[in-house]
Amino acid sequence: MTDVETVEHDVLIIGAGGAGLRAAIEASGAGVSVGLVCKSLLGKAHTVMAEGGMAAAMANVDERDSWRTHFADTMRGGYYLNNWRMAQIHAQQAPDRVRELEAWGAVFDRTPAGKINQRNFGGHAHPRLAHVGDRTGLEMIRTLQDHGIHQGIDVHMECTVTRLLKDGERVAGAFGYSRELGKFMVFKAKAVVMATGGIGRAYKVTSNSWEYTGDGQTLAYDAGAELIDMEFVQFHPTGMVWPPSVRGILVTEGVRGEGGILKNSHGDRFMFRDIPDNYKSSTADTPEEGWRYVTKTDIDARRPPELLTRDHVARCIRREVREGRGSPHGGAFLDIAWIKEKIPNAEEHIKKKLPSMYHQFKELAGIDITKEPMEVGPTTHYVMGGIRVDGETQMTAVPGLYAAGECAAGLHGANRLGGNSLSDLIVFGKLAGEHAAAFAKQRATVSVSEAEVKQAQSDALSPLDSSRATLVGGAYQVQYELQELMQDKVGIVRTEAEMLEAIDAIELLKEKAQSVSAPGNRQYNPGWHTALDLKNLLTVSEAVARSAVRRRESRGAHTRDDFPEKDDNYSAFNFIVRKGPDGEMQVTQEPIPEMPSELRQIIEDHK
Ligand code: FUM
Repeated sequence: MTDVETVEHDVLIIGAGGAGLRAAIEASGAGVSVGLVCKSLLGKAHTVMAEGGMAAAMANVDERDSWRTHFADTMRGGYYLNNWRMAQIHAQQAPDRVRELEAWGAVFDRTPAGKINQRNFGGHAHPRLAHVGDRTGLEMIRTLQDHGIHQGIDVHMECTVTRLLKDGERVAGAFGYSRELGKFMVFKAKAVVMATGGIGRAYKVTSNSWEYTGDGQTLAYDAGAELIDMEFVQFHPTGMVWPPSVRGILVTEGVRGEGGILKNSHGDRFMFRDIPDNYKSSTADTPEEGWRYVTKTDIDARRPPELLTRDHVARCIRREVREGRGSPHGGAFLDIAWIKEKIPNAEEHIKKKLPSMYHQFKELAGIDITKEPMEVGPTTHYVMGGIRVDGETQMTAVPGLYAAGECAAGLHGANRLGGNSLSDLIVFGKLAGEHAAAFAKQRATVSVSEAEVKQAQSDALSPLDSSRATLVGGAYQVQYELQELMQDKVGIVRTEAEMLEAIDAIELLKEKAQSVSAPGNRQYNPGWHTALDLKNLLTVSEAVARSAVRRRESRGAHTRDDFPEKDDNYSAFNFIVRKGPDGEMQVTQEPIPEMPSELRQIIEDHK
């Protein structure tokens, strides 16, 4: 294997956001050698886009909170398609993981009594989000990095993995290349943890940065793992809509958690007009009651409708825009400045609790959020679907291959509650690291096939072949066309006809992607990187579209114009995506395992 650098680790972690870092810390603490590969620079991860907090039932602000309530909220938010065992483990273990972060140096906001402060977020029955202003994800990454740096983890930065390597049925490592110099790398490993995040770059308007092209989902799928729940893509209700250069950037739900309200161009607080039946008993009827809930001056007050779940709020904003009541640039108004009618020193309060939002709008849009409303609209933020894992160990269907964080699936069902992603990362990142280390300890060295590496090399080099047809715009054009397609035809509201059109168009884009060339060489060649990302983007887009066609109902983040109601015939199973023997994508439905009666009772008790 000429021209290839080989490194060997017991456990290889691919992705260095919250889940990857937490897995690396755990595996390394278990005494195995750990390699951590990241596509970007260490510290740059979508984790930082979970700004408003991490959900954990610590009961610091409302002592009625408990893991049971958190479990019930997560299941209700996910429309009961969740892997209930993961939802249970998550709710039970999240408080310890948050306290552990604090012990490792995370500087959380405090309550007047000096406890970790917790704020309201959509779909959570109690203030539950431990937070650091509106920079919680950033503080999580900083803390995990600082802690991990002392553990002897080998970090391979700016390295893209293009293929998982196998030894028989088992995973044996990965093949990749350094983005800077184009040097090929073989990572031999006894166990691999996939923690590459989401698929946001398959859509035109997204909070995700360039790295999120569905890499982990595709690598695992190609290696024989299954994907689950891929039809559920979360459109966060509040992204920036103006100016065009920043469209999609996240506006944290923390704004609404601190009392921000949504209005249309008529000045109407439209969220009061449409409260789903299953949230009627917990949602305020009047602005006054909603405000009492935000400030907790009355613990029996019900939450404002702006804190309904994300799927619902996103649909309501979309409706206002489509019916002609949107803001000038096609969104809704989000107003936090109004709280000055309610509290003294509101300006200072906003700057203290939402410092990033203040700067973001001031610098990018010329808006002072302490005085004026923001313009916001839905942005592709998260995918609930992903690699199917065992709820206890995080292992996939491929022995030795684990997955955690956004690229894994199960916990969130049809819709994720805000704040449940950061806690997901640390709870399941830890478990993945622990079990991957245990697996590696019990196994002898793996061997990597030279033929497989040669194939990986030749696949990676193919876009550099100058004899290929040159498509105007190259890989960028294909990515652009895919993003337009997914946004228009497999977006917030879907129909059978449009999704079938999208599936056909994806086939054509696959052919185009096969023939794009990236002129130049392997050093500093962004066209080449994009050409290699296309396969992943197309695979996850196909999985989303094919699963979404099969779910002929509306549930959570999956809304069908042609099947607008929830249908109980779809309540008891998930859609699973696998690669068939001829490389074709197969979608099947599988029943959700029966929930134990004690968990069913918890859900009943919290209805
Ligand atoms: O709105 C937010 O701060 C995002 C949080 C999340 O996605 O969990």
